[in-house]
Formats: sequence, structure tokens, C-alpha cells
Amino acid sequence: MTLQNVLPWICRAHQEGWAVGAFNANALEQAQAIVAAAQVEKAPAIIQVSHRALTYIGSGNEIQGLKYIAAIGKIAAESVTVPIALHLDHGTETEVLQAIALGFTSVMFDGDGYSFEENISIARRLCEVAHSVEACMEAEVGEVPKPDGKEFDEASIALTRPEEAAQFAEATGIDTLAVALGSVHGLTTKQISLDLKCLAEIRSRASIPLVLHGSSGVSDNDIKQGITMGLCKVNVATQLNQAFTDAIRNVLNRDGELVDPRQYLAPGRNAQMETVRERIRFFGASGKA
Ligand code: G3H
Ligand code: ZN
Repeated sequence: MTLQNVLPWICRAHQEGWAVGAFNANALEQAQAIVAAAQVEKAPAIIQVSHRALTYIGSGNEIQGLKYIAAIGKIAAESVTVPIALHLDHGTETEVLQAIALGFTSVMFDGDGYSFEENISIARRLCEVAHSVEACMEAEVGEVPKPDGKEFDEASIALTRPEEAAQFAEATGIDTLAVALGSVHGLTTKQISLDLKCLAEIRSRASIPLVLHGSSGVSDNDIKQGITMGLCKVNVATQLNQAFTDAIRNVLNRDGELVDPRQYLAPGRNAQMETVRERIRFFGASGKA
């Protein structure tokens, strides 16, 4: 299939109490693993690429990274018969505009560092551009920290304020809203409990489909609960990187003489595919394409 805007599936998930999985890719093999898993599970899925992955893929030039990924995402989607979206994750204003021009079917503006009012005004502007080509627009209110291995203080996390979520959704016209419920990016163990009271408050004021960031560090119990309460796009990155890298490490540990990258990248790709499949089933998206 050509790349799709999977908003109709996100809206259906919203109504039926399941979630579309949005899976981060940093390399070709990771994108291949995502679409292969979606195909086997007969599920809609999102390949997403973050600002930092673009920097890596473009060797320091994010626009070059976007061009690589636009081509890879298109071919990956065309290799399967289930709906696949290509999403820019945590993009800057410039990257969002460039991604839309390159055919991404979904974009997220990360307003981290902007005031609430500036976040609204940029997101609204970008949303008009996204909608002019029928792309899906996501933005965030509150903060899901990106500690990058540094210490962070769980108590200081700025959760989404329910009244701001409703105001933001209304003022910007965005399709999906990323909310901060206590999760943190990049954790390698499931140690976080979501603030489900905050989620219920947001849900009571805003009907927009909600997005969970930082799911790798959140207990599965809370993810499950959150999905039943209105989280209908769930982002997964670190958990996939763990599966991919662990498999490669095992191969290399077993054979110190190995030099052919295909012999360790293929097991990495397979391991990630199994993890994506497991997440798709866990989110209730299996068979929904
Ligand atoms: O935007 C990407 C995600 O929020 C993934 O976070 O690495 O904690 O799974 P994670
Ligand atoms: Zn995120």
C-alpha cells in the first residue's frame, strides 16, 4: 500500500478501546521489522522517526535524514498490504514543514521550550499546512522528560493540565494530543506508574485522541488501563532498541570473528519484529487492518 494517514484507525481505536502502535526506527532494518510485524498481525501501524534519529541518519543534517526516511518509509509501506503511516516524531517547526513536503503522512511538533501560547500558535499554523495535504497532526502539552541517561526527578515532571489540554486541542485544531502523565523517555525498565486520575480529568474535558510517549518505562498494567481510558496511539522506542541490540550483542558475543553485518543485523531485525508483534497484540490492534 502507499503510505496512509492512519487517523481513521486511531479514531476507530479511540471508540473501540484499543491503540495503534507507533514504533520508532533509527535504521533501515528497524523500519523493515515494523512493517513485517504489522503485516503478520494484520494491524495498522506507524513507523516514526524522531528528531535525533534524523540527525543520525542524515549524519548531522536533519533534512538529509528526512529525505532518506521519506524514501525508506514509502518503500517499506509499499512492501505490505496493511495501512502504514510515516510519522515525524518530536519534530521542530522546520522539520515538520519539510516532512510534510516530502510526503510524511503524519507529523508531531514538539513545543518543548516554548510558552503555552507560542506552542499553540506554531501548532495551529503547522496544523493548517498538514491538513492541506491530509496529513495527521500531533502536538504536546506538558512534558515527557528526555533525560538521556542523566538523573531526573520524577516529582518535578510537569503533567498535562487538563484545562490546558482542552484549550490547546480546541485552539490548534490538531488531530491527536500527546499528554504527559508521568512517563519518561528512554527508560530500560518498566518502573513508571501513570497518573490515571489526570488522564481521567483530561478525558472528561477533551475528546481528542490521546497519545502516550515514553511507553517503554511504563508498567504494562498502566498502559492497558490507559488504553481503556482513551490513549489510542502508543509510542514505543527503547523497548525495540533493546530487542534489536540484545540480539546483535548475542550474535557478536558468540562469534568474535564475525565481520559480515548481515549476519548480526538480520537477527536484530527478527528480534525487533517479534517485539513489535507482541506490542501490537498487547495494544489490541492485531487483526484491525
Ligand atoms: O517518541 C517516542 C516515544 O515516546 C518512545 O519512548 O523510548 O520510552 O519507548 P520510549
Ligand atoms: Zn516521545
